[in-house]
Amino acid sequence: MLKPIVAGNWKMNKTPKEGNSFISEVLEILSKIDNVNIIFCPPFTGLSNLDISAPFYLGAQNCFYKDHGAYTGEISLSMLIECKVDYVIIGHSERRHMFYEDDKLIGKKVFNVINAGLKPILCIGETLDQKNHGKTFNIIEQQLIKGLISVKSLDNITIAYEPVWAIGTGLTASSEKINEMHSFIRKILTKLYSNFNIDSVPILYGGSVNSENASEIILINGVNGFLIGGASLDIIKFTDIVKIVNEQ
Ligand code: PGA
Repeated sequence: MLKPIVAGNWKMNKTPKEGNSFISEVLEILSKIDNVNIIFCPPFTGLSNLDISAPFYLGAQNCFYKDHGAYTGEISLSMLIECKVDYVIIGHSERRHMFYEDDKLIGKKVFNVINAGLKPILCIGETLDQKNHGKTFNIIEQQLIKGLISVKSLDNITIAYEPVWAIGTGLTASSEKINEMHSFIRKILTKLYSNFNIDSVPILYGGSVNSENASEIILINGVNGFLIGGASLDIIKFTDIVKIVNEQ
């Protein structure tokens, strides 16, 4: 069985000092956790000088696909590797919509993360407008096809299904909808990688997950954990969610 994942995407929050003390406190509170892989995704400035080990991991919120050069404001995979990063979030809806990242760029990034020996968390999800126009399935299929375009094996891939309208809004998809979408994602992956055991690919849910709704969502068939934004910034809320997942 897949070990569930709880990833905290801090977005542009917490200075390095604040992040360090947050992580130390979480490690103390969760010292007995062994059924969950926990990924901290601080801003780049919070990624170095952290001493953590399994089941705790570091994730970056983004990366560029070139290794070095004149790319002002970007960060390379070798820089992330030196900071002991294991996971990289790629294609988060805020990157797609606020920073205009398209599926082509996302596909390149996913490929390079895998090539560097790290694990991409490929985020996919429909906007409210796409949902209202009945385009959800098509969008999700296209995001998967294009995001994974150069990927030969799904070995190191994690998918995060995050309906854009649920991110940071307090709205969550219904249990039936989450189940339907996670099954649909597995169906597309099966079509794309017929020789691969798709059950071994973690599919996370994200979008206003909190300590109140986590126990219901984690029980949904096909949900292998969470990608959490807002609630990952609060020690009690974040550790409560990890404990809930740990007990499943
Ligand atoms: P949220 O963010 O939990 O605040 O909705 C989720 C995300 O952006 O990954």
